[in-house]
Amino acid sequence: MVSPRGEFTSRFGFVAAAAGSAVGLGNVWGFPTQAASNGGGAFLLIYLLLAFVLAYPVLMAELIIGRHAHTNAVTALRNISPNRLLGNIGAASGIAGCIVASLILSFYAIVAGWMIAFGLAYVADLFRLSSLPAWLTAFGLVRNTVFAGLFIAITIIIVSAGVQRGIERWSERLMPTLLLTLVALSMYVLTLDGAEQGLKIYLLPDVTRALSTELIIDALGSAFFSLSLGVGTMLIYGSYVNDKENLPALGGWVTLVDVGIAVLAGFLVLPAMYAALHNGVEIFTEGGALISEDTLIFTVLPQLFDTMGFTGSLLAIAFFFLMSIAALTSSISMLEAPVAYVVEEHSIERRSAAMLIGTVIALASCFIILNFDTLFGSVIKLTTRYGQPLLGFMFCIYAGWVWHRDALLQEIAKGYPDARNGLFWTFWPWHIRFICPLIILGIFAHMLQQQV
Ligand code: PFF
Repeated sequence: MVSPRGEFTSRFGFVAAAAGSAVGLGNVWGFPTQAASNGGGAFLLIYLLLAFVLAYPVLMAELIIGRHAHTNAVTALRNISPNRLLGNIGAASGIAGCIVASLILSFYAIVAGWMIAFGLAYVADLFRLSSLPAWLTAFGLVRNTVFAGLFIAITIIIVSAGVQRGIERWSERLMPTLLLTLVALSMYVLTLDGAEQGLKIYLLPDVTRALSTELIIDALGSAFFSLSLGVGTMLIYGSYVNDKENLPALGGWVTLVDVGIAVLAGFLVLPAMYAALHNGVEIFTEGGALISEDTLIFTVLPQLFDTMGFTGSLLAIAFFFLMSIAALTSSISMLEAPVAYVVEEHSIERRSAAMLIGTVIALASCFIILNFDTLFGSVIKLTTRYGQPLLGFMFCIYAGWVWHRDALLQEIAKGYPDARNGLFWTFWPWHIRFICPLIILGIFAHMLQQQV
């Protein structure tokens, strides 16, 4: 039997879950390092601009469609379509979203697995388990598989428990923990010698580097990735929101928390890197560029922690714990998208659906691990650079052109009675119709032109 649909019980529960989805490895690691290598404060400005001008409107499209339809992305896009053809195209985009979300989880789990393994390595080190830390931190088939599998298993357990007892309850616990750990770690790192230099690099704008097209394309991908857009995760979270809630305000909170945590993470990662430099750790390549992101996190930071003795070990444990939590609140939303679809459309019980889809994703992760050099980077590029923005484009088209404007206003007005005269209704419908699709298409056209 199919159980009734879940619903978030409180506003905080929704914001914790949706911001939990948005805040992940992308914010805590990706954003600060990208900012560092791309013009510091200037990149920060472009990122903020894209987050509010492009990502927030698309997030709203997903949330509004989701809450109206109270169902998964596939059924929702079909139901708001006026005819069969558009209904089928909408449903196909929804299914593509489920596939992209699953593919994202398949590589995300590998990286999250590394975070858990590194955290455990420092714990093992404290207990003087001599050979274990080396195994946990070395790139190996078995280690990668075991920890990606473990991470997916935890994700399956939470998603199986449903919206209130799983997603909401765990997001409410994990998000404040993440924030506290982040603030405590940044405050500590800022006291280290050399940290000030990192802060300068982070905050001083270098406009010449921030205006390159390559960078804007990257910033677009990061903005979509950061707010978990295009793949139906935000739509499904929107579908669990009560009709009484003011959606534009809730979406605004989610965007603010997401951007705020990314900015806050910059106060941890950049100063930490320059503190490492101060302690004699190499953070630049011979050409003078910053060492690539993954090398930075898994070699530079551990080297910094190692120069600091016992405090360093505690710091390392807190850091990798933080990364694992951030990854987990995101992975549950990735799995929820296909699970909700299968539960609602194919009447499969939630627990079985989570197990089944989770297992398929774990197999995909194994396949990537086995063909790491060829697949890892390509899957990331395919899903985040192309998949998410293109599917985000479809949401703009469905919210802006396909769905009836009056229905849209009615949906917003449910929790915001004066919506018609509000600022949101003055700008958003026009924005989602013209500006957002044009920006996405423009950036894509440019990208293709460069590749020819
Ligand atoms: N927003 C997450 C991050 O910044 O790490 C990644 C993500 C979560 C992407 C959920 C897509 C998704 F559906």
